[in-house]
Amino acid sequence: MTTGGAYSIATRGAKDVIDGAWPLVMDAIGRIPDRPGSAFTLTDIGTADGGTSLEMIGDAIAAIRGRFPERDIQIVYTDQPRNDYNAIFRMVHGLTGQASYLERFDRVQVLASATSFYDPILPRGTLDLGFSATAMHWLSRKPCDIPDHVQAVGASGASLSEFQQQAARDWEAILLRRAAELAPGGRLVLVNFGVDDEGRYLGNTGGINMFDTFDAIWRGFVADGTISQAEYAAMTLPQYYKNVQEFRAPLDDRGNPVSKVGLSVEHCETRVVPCPFAAEFKNHGDAARFARDYVPTLRSWSAATFRAALDNSRPDAERDAIIENFYGTYETMVREAPEGHAMDYVHVYLTIARES
Ligand SMILES: C[S@@+](CC[C@H](N)C(=O)[O-])C[C@H]1O[C@@H](n2cnc3c(N)ncnc32)[C@H](O)[C@@H]1O
Repeated sequence: MTTGGAYSIATRGAKDVIDGAWPLVMDAIGRIPDRPGSAFTLTDIGTADGGTSLEMIGDAIAAIRGRFPERDIQIVYTDQPRNDYNAIFRMVHGLTGQASYLERFDRVQVLASATSFYDPILPRGTLDLGFSATAMHWLSRKPCDIPDHVQAVGASGASLSEFQQQAARDWEAILLRRAAELAPGGRLVLVNFGVDDEGRYLGNTGGINMFDTFDAIWRGFVADGTISQAEYAAMTLPQYYKNVQEFRAPLDDRGNPVSKVGLSVEHCETRVVPCPFAAEFKNHGDAARFARDYVPTLRSWSAATFRAALDNSRPDAERDAIIENFYGTYETMVREAPEGHAMDYVHVYLTIARES
């Protein structure tokens, strides 16, 4: 991901997605049992720079303080080891100019853990409320290269099956890790990219398909000799978007280990959150501005995978130039024919309860 606070600027839509989770978070806080004498622990898993969840966490702290006035509240920010943790602390301690909840509340401790959600993050039985947005589509590994697309939404046959199986294993692993950490009666509010009942997913809600556009540009680069076929094959993003049935499967199946450890679905819905850049474009009508604003949000989460797929024998500057060329090409396409371009978000909003 991009660092230094740039993530929040490039991903305003992600904040809209998180703000939309507020009713689920508020409801969960109302149901979580008291654990007198211990701090209330709230995690933001896969937080990036903490900017998109800052306001929602402030609201959550107000609700938790209202419900359990005697308890300290600890907020544990987690992401991968290579995440920019300084950006989180600058954000939360108000060094970015954006107001932080720490100005409003006492007895709130902010901690961070550079630990993947595939690993144990917290001591067993200590988590009251686990929150995560737009992170768990990243698989623990890429099960295979997809020969004819850059993302599993375009996969078929054996490669699709490998991605489906990897995603199912990973989802169970994440849930079992969190089940161990949750206190009895604790809740998870997980907001993840997914495929809804109409087959919609990120960047595919009726207009131009974003992942097909990625794929078409890279195929064009193969055709004109900019990159090799092997580099194209390695462009496969290690992501998978589950449908509702896939999200629910381990929680609904009474024989599954996830269900057996006491996790169950309390709330499940899909939502489409509109692309803020496409919405703005409808108002200002400036195609060049739309293209300039929009493409960085796609770049913020895709560039690292694409750059890593370029052959190591290429000098750094050459790899940088190919990446610039790729997003430049996308920007030109949007500028020249903006209609239909949008990265609408499609999410599955889940509340999961651990039995008391
Ligand atoms: C699209 S960002 C979402 C950030 C923020 N939660 C939001 O909704 O705006 C995805 C985040 O997930 C993190 N991530 C990806 N794989 C992860 C893993 N295995 N463990 C923890 N975080 C992970 C990335 O580093 C990145 O910060």
